Amino acid sequence: MADSTAPARTVTLTDDATGKSWKLPLISGSTGPDVIDIRKLYGTTGLFTFDPGFTSTAACESRITFIDGDKGILLHRGYPIEQLAEKSDFLEVAYLLQYGELPNTSQKADWVHHITYHTMVHEQLIRFYSGFRRDAHPMAVMCGVVGGLAAFYHDSLDIHDEYQRLVSCHRLIAKLPTLAAMTYKYAMGQPFVYPQNSLSYAENFLYMMFSVPAEPYKINPVLARAMDKIFILHADHEQNASTSTVRLASSSGANPFACMAAGITSLWGPAHGGANEAVLKMLMKIGSKDKVPEIIRRAKDPNDDFRLMGFGHRVYKNYDPRAKIMRETCHEVLRELGITNDPLLETAMEMERIALQDDYFIQKKLYPNVDFYSGIILRAMGFPMSMFTVLFALARTAGWVAHWQEQLREDEQKIGRPRQLYTGATHRDFVELAKRG
Ligand code: SDX
Repeated sequence: MADSTAPARTVTLTDDATGKSWKLPLISGSTGPDVIDIRKLYGTTGLFTFDPGFTSTAACESRITFIDGDKGILLHRGYPIEQLAEKSDFLEVAYLLQYGELPNTSQKADWVHHITYHTMVHEQLIRFYSGFRRDAHPMAVMCGVVGGLAAFYHDSLDIHDEYQRLVSCHRLIAKLPTLAAMTYKYAMGQPFVYPQNSLSYAENFLYMMFSVPAEPYKINPVLARAMDKIFILHADHEQNASTSTVRLASSSGANPFACMAAGITSLWGPAHGGANEAVLKMLMKIGSKDKVPEIIRRAKDPNDDFRLMGFGHRVYKNYDPRAKIMRETCHEVLRELGITNDPLLETAMEMERIALQDDYFIQKKLYPNVDFYSGIILRAMGFPMSMFTVLFALARTAGWVAHWQEQLREDEQKIGRPRQLYTGATHRDFVELAKRG
């Protein structure tokens, strides 16, 4: 929190109708916008603030991720996403998010060991899958099986026990790839593939996804590296909708598996993590780059609720730094797979070229976001569209558990309970049915 030795800074709130005014503390973080501390506002003024969608609201204090939307900057514990994507790996980033520092050799080995030895799931969890239709959306399955982990791991549900919380973090980061791959295998009607401890996190996931008992599976190191980089790019992103959902669920004391299942449900929406699937559907529907101008016209039409999926962001009013890295990775993967002229990539790049020159997108500061290119890569790697958001949830679990831990370590634990601006009916008495007209 703010430096207690600095002179107290305040802002004054004045009700022009009554002339009443109140001084509210102003708090500075280490960087980013200062905040007006309104924790005592209602108690002293009888007034609420009103901020649907939380466009101007800092819901918590955090040290995990910082975004400068105007400059297109994303830092995880101070490290730029560009450097982490290039030089780190996903499990190391997950450690960084959790502990605040990059691990040394023994810390990293210990962290990787614990994650590796939690990748298997309880054998009876497998029965959950047979209860779902094979054509269920994989995110519907993931909501169920991740929440269902609470039915098995009773020894790590006590949120007030630091050790049990850590075990839950290990279990969630370790088991999400296994559950995600099982979700895919179930949909495909193929046998589940057990994790292999000799493989890296990303290699293991690709192995569980795409290997079949009928023949050996050969890991492609370029694709494994791309997978790991995609996980890093999705690991955390400040107080986005799904992370805020996890924090709100956790504020009631809900167990970690229930909180992560809540995060998965929120991420599923097409305005959030579901956008990667929506982008690919959009690109496939457009069909070719010469139809892009019509799509751009529709996106700009105030009477058409069509939006360019993968464009725009609540915080970034500049290029999403993750989208740049994703585009580079896209070219690497397509080159590795020998895909030279992917019509979807050509359509996406034409859309980006035109949109970035168009006054509508320039004035509204709409740029490609993390979801714009990811679907093209994942489709080329063999993932069905319905699995794209599952991969997002897999990676974002690292951020969710870090925020979950951070919130539970706060001195003051308060249940999240927003108020409202009520505009409904005021008091009236019940009318008997016979008198209702
Ligand atoms: C993610 O929060 C996070 O950090 C999320 C995320 C993460 O890592 O967790 O980064 C992941 O969710 C990325 C975003 C994925 N979603 C999409 O790509 C869906 C398409 N984008 C939009 O739906 C939209 O841009 C949002 C939801 C992402 C942001 O919406 P905001 O901040 O609420 O902005 P808005 O809806 O108020 O739009 C501002 C203006 C509007 O025009 P006006 O009403 O001012 O006239 O911009 C327009 C919008 O109509 N606009 C778009 C547009 N996005 C916004 N117009 C055309 N196409 C778009 N994509």
